[in-house]
Amino acid sequence: MNDGTNREAGNSRIAVYPGSFDPVTMGHLDIIRRAAKQFDRLIVSVLNNTTKSPLFSVEERVELLKEIAKDLPNVEVDYFRDLLVRYMRSKQAHIIIRGIRSVTDFEYELQMASMNRQLDEGIDTIFMMTNPKYSYLSSSIVKEIAKFHGNVSDLVPPVVEEALRRKYPLDRQP
Ligand code: PNS
Repeated sequence: MNDGTNREAGNSRIAVYPGSFDPVTMGHLDIIRRAAKQFDRLIVSVLNNTTKSPLFSVEERVELLKEIAKDLPNVEVDYFRDLLVRYMRSKQAHIIIRGIRSVTDFEYELQMASMNRQLDEGIDTIFMMTNPKYSYLSSSIVKEIAKFHGNVSDLVPPVVEEALRRKYPLDRQP
């Protein structure tokens, strides 16, 4: 019998970790690894936001995520271009995972979580504190450093470092 606390398909607990991931960083990877341990299935989903001009295309971001999550059998990578709550319903998922680095993040995240709950009260957001090692890290900062050919090896997985090198070749000045 289903008591309403576990409404996911086939009783498996499905969570979605949505984001821009432009590009995925060590901070994201840390959240992916930890969230994957808590759920039967974790869907990491890239927002295809047509109003932003990302450095990496959705296809590139999905490929990078697939590469770094390839050793995590219950993690899938996908993309969406819709309201998050509608996408969640299409996946029969009820938990949104978001990482929080600081109090500054919290205000925006609280607004998003409350709005998503307003749109669909069956959807909950679970916040995971980012590993303090990565609390200063963001995709934007990584892109800024990479653009000026700084060292990002501690900030992103090697495959992302390579992809950034291809975007910002050494023989081209910013
Ligand atoms: O990595 P980001 O850019 O902080 O992720 C933001 C994201 C993708 C989670 C958010 O922008 C989102 O869910 N967009 C989908 C459209 C939507 O549902 N907007 C209303 C959320 S309150």
